Amino acid sequence: MNSDLLSQLSLEEKAKLMSGQDLWSTFPVERLGIPSIYMSDGPHGLRKVDPTVALGESVPATCFPTASAMASTWNADLIYKAGAAIGQECLRHDVQILLGPGVNIKRSPLGGRNFEYFSEDPLLAGILAASLILGLQSKGVGACVKHFAANNQEFERMIGNSIVDERTLREIYLTAFEIVVKEAQPYAIMAAYNQVNGIWASESRRLLTQILRDEWGYEGIVISDWGAVNHPEKALEAGLNLEMPDNPLSAPKIIKAVESGELAEEELDKMVSNLLNVVFKADANRQSKASFDIVEHHELSKEVAAESMVLLKNEDSLLPIQIEELSSIALIGNFAKHPRYQGAGSSRVNASRSESTFEALHELLPQHVQINYAEGYNNEADEVHMQLLSTAKEAAAKSDVAIVLVGLPDSFEAEGSDRSHMHLPKSHDSLVEEILKVQPNTVVVLINGSAVELPWADQCKAILESWLGGQASGAALAETLLGIRNPSGKLSETFPLKLEHNSSSLNFPGENRKVEYKERIYIGYRYYDTKKLPVMYPFGHGLSYTTFEYSNLAFSDQVVADDDTCRLSFFLKNTGNVRGKEVVQVYVSPPSAYVDRPDQKLAAFDKIELDPGATALVEFILEKRAFSYYDVDLEDWLIDSGSFEIRIGSSSRDIRLCKSLEIISEKAKPKKVYDRYSTVAELLEHPKGKAYVDKMMPLFGVDPDTVRAEDHDMRIILMSMPIVKRCNFSHGAYTEEMLDEFLKEVNAGE
Ligand code: BGC
Repeated sequence: MNSDLLSQLSLEEKAKLMSGQDLWSTFPVERLGIPSIYMSDGPHGLRKVDPTVALGESVPATCFPTASAMASTWNADLIYKAGAAIGQECLRHDVQILLGPGVNIKRSPLGGRNFEYFSEDPLLAGILAASLILGLQSKGVGACVKHFAANNQEFERMIGNSIVDERTLREIYLTAFEIVVKEAQPYAIMAAYNQVNGIWASESRRLLTQILRDEWGYEGIVISDWGAVNHPEKALEAGLNLEMPDNPLSAPKIIKAVESGELAEEELDKMVSNLLNVVFKADANRQSKASFDIVEHHELSKEVAAESMVLLKNEDSLLPIQIEELSSIALIGNFAKHPRYQGAGSSRVNASRSESTFEALHELLPQHVQINYAEGYNNEADEVHMQLLSTAKEAAAKSDVAIVLVGLPDSFEAEGSDRSHMHLPKSHDSLVEEILKVQPNTVVVLINGSAVELPWADQCKAILESWLGGQASGAALAETLLGIRNPSGKLSETFPLKLEHNSSSLNFPGENRKVEYKERIYIGYRYYDTKKLPVMYPFGHGLSYTTFEYSNLAFSDQVVADDDTCRLSFFLKNTGNVRGKEVVQVYVSPPSAYVDRPDQKLAAFDKIELDPGATALVEFILEKRAFSYYDVDLEDWLIDSGSFEIRIGSSSRDIRLCKSLEIISEKAKPKKVYDRYSTVAELLEHPKGKAYVDKMMPLFGVDPDTVRAEDHDMRIILMSMPIVKRCNFSHGAYTEEMLDEFLKEVNAGE
């Protein structure tokens, strides 16, 4: 930014620029030509409301599937297109920054905003969010990625303190943010409400400056979540560029802090300068004549919805429904006529149009197929409605096939509160159980934003997860059920058998304003797979109306050293009868090592479309990071040399190809410092340690060979003993002073 402009701003103007002018826009300085820019909620569509209103009716816009659905497409190109379409709608409505996407990790299935987040896996979340941002920003509209950081629940959402160890932060909760910063440079990042390890996220210099800017090279601005600032001058000093919304109390505090010398004016200047860079950039992209094609965007939204649907189960190939062989279909569930296609809260979009599954099926089915609709439940109360239930049973019994739509009503999934269990409403579960008694050909369609428990799944032939699929989800669902579209979604989160199996279940959502992430890096499949727990449906799972065969996994090199990348390839063949898309997944399983690591982690993925009988050569390049873990002492990513297993899967539990790859890392680990309490075993890892054993052990009356002998009982006891204890046993032959001398020598290096 022009430093001239900065010097013309008064202290008061600079302080005022640090918070909004109203609920949604930045403060302008007209005399200097500094414009105001407008922000609106997203992330799955534009939610532009009046500047004075927080949760009122917004302008009509295309409601795309929410992030859990988008993530289940595993299709970065498609999500880019959705981002670009949302960007175009922002241009049309003169919105410069869209408040989204949210890339927080689904720590628990109960998280109230899980429907707004992508995944339990940071790589998947980061890559898809980066695509959405790149699409949006290709139109000159900025993204504001939220909620930075460790904001994974709604309970005590504005006051909670997330206690997370450094390695877990780096490997799980910061990674998606890191990916989007490095890949997409969003215009803005939103600092979360909560504290992270005792410091408000909006006041954490470590998060907002050291990690975000200094380490990751972030060039945009940091905006507070709405009302997240507690001490404006501290937030500013930490690296916050804009407090939202307007707060008349903040500017006087900032001015006072500058005048008293508590806050250096250069810090304020830095924050203002960053902010104005983004304000001018976004303002320059305004287009007064922008427009968009409502029908085209509706169709795109349908494509995303269709690609997000996950066929969880399909016994006897019940799906797609063979209409030629049918005369009637029972369509059951209130959701069939009153679709729920998005979550509640600040992300709610006023959909430009919507079509229910009932309407869409009516349009698509030939005259000879009768639709027997029954409501089955109502969503007003969580109780079984006997009359609705028995009418639904009758409809199912007299039809050839039953399609039952169940899921989570708005009251179960909303910003501001977490779920207390993973069940569907009782009325929905009972409906499915009763229908299954009278109609073996039952397809259950799930409508929900996060994993649920399915106690009747074993009895049911077909289950299709359709998520909160946006305004065109009714039509996308109808087309999928009838085979006009082939499902290709894969789960972006594990469906555990029950909530208690989830690794965070004993520490969620915490208490007394504190939530401890005690399960550490073992989130989602990282936990279930390491623990070898059975799950209902694994991460990455999803069937198709066709089948795929994987073959010939090959590496360009069998041994990969530090700065090399690993190239791998294999063949994928469509072995079924219809065109289809497969999400191929690469998992890396580390050698067993001193540092504990999850059994496997997702390292790469792609979505490949193939005609029946066609084969594709699939290639990936794995970077070093795929093999590494975060070393807290070194404050960097490290690789333990050894044999890694590269697993190619159709899901995390359906591994089709597997091969070992030797990785050699020369990167030095932090130098170990030995002290009196280092064990004999630790000492033996040091080149001089062996000499110590040879020389000193005879003094204690121990034969050095005993220490090295593989099968001696004494060895086990000796190895785990702190070396200082040996002084006691030497009866003065080896003193503590001698030990200290020796330690000095060992720690001094070669
Ligand atoms: C939410 C944000 C949202 C903001 C503005 C906050 O309460 O946490 O996600 O963007 O409100 O509506």
